Amino acid sequence: MIVGALSAWVVASLLGPAIFHVHLLRSGTSDPGVVQHTEEAFATASAYSLGGALFAALVTSAVVSVLVTRRIARQLGQVRHASGRIAAGDYTVQVPSVGMGAELDDLASAFNTMAAELARVEQTRTRLLSDLAHEMRTPVATLEGYLEGIQDGVVGADEETMTVLLHQVSRLARLAQDISLVTTAEEGRLSMHRRPVRVDELVGTAVRQASGQYAAAGIDLTAEVPGAAVGAVVEVDQDRIGQVLTNLLDNALRHTSPGGRVVVRATRDAESVRLQVADTGEGIAKEHLGHVFERFYRADSARDRAHGGSGIGLAIARSISRAHGGEVTVSSAGHGQGTTFTVELPLMVPAARRQR
Ligand SMILES: Nc1ncnc2c1ncn2[C@@H]1O[C@H](COP(=O)(O)OP(=O)(O)O)[C@@H](O)[C@H]1O
Ligand SMILES: [Mg+2]
Repeated sequence: MIVGALSAWVVASLLGPAIFHVHLLRSGTSDPGVVQHTEEAFATASAYSLGGALFAALVTSAVVSVLVTRRIARQLGQVRHASGRIAAGDYTVQVPSVGMGAELDDLASAFNTMAAELARVEQTRTRLLSDLAHEMRTPVATLEGYLEGIQDGVVGADEETMTVLLHQVSRLARLAQDISLVTTAEEGRLSMHRRPVRVDELVGTAVRQASGQYAAAGIDLTAEVPGAAVGAVVEVDQDRIGQVLTNLLDNALRHTSPGGRVVVRATRDAESVRLQVADTGEGIAKEHLGHVFERFYRADSARDRAHGGSGIGLAIARSISRAHGGEVTVSSAGHGQGTTFTVELPLMVPAARRQR
């Protein structure tokens, strides 16, 4: 404001008198007394009006500046206050926008997005911990019960007891292994030995490994690899993709009744290969479809707990598929309609074609 006023004053006092002087002489006045008096009158009039105008400008711009600064400060104060609440662990804060231009509105909305994302992460973290505790409780309680029984002499340390104890211990060990696998894969630290593998080989191995269990359960298991897909090659870690298929086949077995049918299918298009595991089992209701890949998620927890699954199988399948640049998806027409899981992997382009 001061710089503006000073430059206005300097410019006006340099230009005004000179222009006035020229015009005065052109009007034909030659009496030096008149000229001097008229110029003095101009100087006084200019000084008063310019001084008054500059003062008024100073006052109004000061008032406007204070108002604008206050609104900006209020918005920044809200952001500062909200950061404090977030630092204290309250993720529900929202910063309202005060309509002070796009930059501040952007700041407010970026801040709100950040708070919402932090809230989501925190919620996932809490749920994971409580699910994990829940998962560990049953085996640990069983172990404790049996060991106390042995100590008190109520339970004999015979082979049957040992089998139960070993089973619970291996359940805990598998839980730890599964969790560390998912975590490693999600952090992108999964060690992989990728090499070209034919899809018919992948499908064949998985089906062969599962066939014993399927036969025992009375469920028909078949592999379907149409001619077009037979020679298709994907560059994968064979063991890990094998584990994905094993997890899917394991689920299909568990959720299909005797007399049902499970098909492992491979198809290909120009860029990718699809491995499908389709069953004629109990299906998955719509409300669960979006969640089955989450860690510890079970569509029917009461029954599945008895089956020993901890709800990590599909999370593992997803993170391994993603680590290969692929994806796994699920579809089911609903309860009793069967389920199809699809693993999509990028097709390996032969070196010759890549060069061309
Ligand atoms: N083929 C299937 N048919 C019906 N439901 C399934 C099938 N595969 C998975 N699900 C549902 O998805 C849930 C998560 O599967 P998963 O992550 O493998 O955990 P788990 O097998 O340990 O229960 C299962 O509990 C089940 O409710
Ligand atoms: Mg499973």
